[in-house]
Amino acid sequence: MQAIEIKTATGKQSKILTGEDFTNFQNCFSAQKFILIIDENIFDLYPFFRKFNCIKIRADEKNKTLETVENIISQLIELQADRSTFIVGVGGGITCDIAGFSASIYMRGLRFGFISTSLLSQADASVGGKNGVNFNGFKNMAGTFNLPEFVICDTNMLNTLPQNEFIGGMSEIVKIALIKDLEMFNFIEYNTNAILKRNKKILQKLITKSIQRKTDIVSSDEFEKSERRMLNFGHTLAHAIERNSEISHGFAVSIGIRFAAEISKYFNLILNDDIVRIKNLLVNLGLPLHTEINDEILFKTIIADKKKNDDEINFVLINDIGKSLEKNIKISDFKYLISKFK
Ligand SMILES: NC(=O)c1ccc[n+]([C@@H]2O[C@H](COP(=O)([O-])OP(=O)(O)OC[C@H]3O[C@@H](n4cnc5c(N)ncnc54)[C@H](O)[C@@H]3O)[C@@H](O)[C@H]2O)c1
Ligand SMILES: [Zn+2]
Repeated sequence: MQAIEIKTATGKQSKILTGEDFTNFQNCFSAQKFILIIDENIFDLYPFFRKFNCIKIRADEKNKTLETVENIISQLIELQADRSTFIVGVGGGITCDIAGFSASIYMRGLRFGFISTSLLSQADASVGGKNGVNFNGFKNMAGTFNLPEFVICDTNMLNTLPQNEFIGGMSEIVKIALIKDLEMFNFIEYNTNAILKRNKKILQKLITKSIQRKTDIVSSDEFEKSERRMLNFGHTLAHAIERNSEISHGFAVSIGIRFAAEISKYFNLILNDDIVRIKNLLVNLGLPLHTEINDEILFKTIIADKKKNDDEINFVLINDIGKSLEKNIKISDFKYLISKFK
């Protein structure tokens, strides 16, 4: 077991335990009463959780809504949750985002922690305290910044993860490597086969590296004023794809990564060889590179989304594998870039 601590400038703390057995979760907090907000798939697959007070949710992007939060609040009231109740979110990124948000607003905020069950959430989503829900199909429009007290990342739980979900999780890990860590990118390239075979030792190393990188970023910029915005690499297009299709977050991010890399090359920030490496890695991992969605639809969705600034879009690029920067791109130029590279 390895513990990684996040300490933010505002004095908040969170500990992330990799390689910890999920059945030890009660050692991570003390509270007279606790309630699990749990992905119904995990509830079905892991009978261990049935003996606890559970609020079950369906982990579906369409269900990541205020209505689901209302439903959770009703059940918390029924279960007589009060200010001293501790909430444990158990599931992937969708469940942790919803559970963290519900805990943050119920009675002005309950303490909470996560048992993170998908590769995407272990390596990225449950680290860093962003939580929230979608609104009218726009991603993560309502939410808070609030760190969980603990996150348990038990790699054994990844054994039951469907293959598509496993592969999708790799896109966020590749993203973190691309913006922050060339050595991590090399590691993924070198170990692609072992990763796809879910070699435990390699996965454990990879998840730990990913969490460390994300922790560095979050510790220095809890509220996404600067450095943390780099984590949005690949996400501008990804969110537009998700709004207009059934494609999963991880797969949409892969397409978004390739798109943002092409734009980085367009501005002469990276070499053609880098693009080839990035595309090869994504393909070797089984991730998609392109979307069939119409340019105009993607463009309209992107300019309606939250990361626009007047007539420019704030966009994250890489200026070498492992280094990132932000650039404001004129909306008119952006339209051209979508038609060229989407
Ligand atoms: N808060 C953040 O910083 C942050 C960062 C990245 C992504 N996200 C969010 O995370 C979400 C995507 O997360 P995700 O890919 O984990 O989605 P998810 O929670 O939907 O999990 C994916 C699927 O895998 C199933 N699953 C999860 N763990 C399993 C296990 N151990 N065994 C069997 N099945 C399992 C779930 O039931 C679901 O069907 C998106 O909504 C995205 O916006 C948040
Ligand atoms: Zn993401």
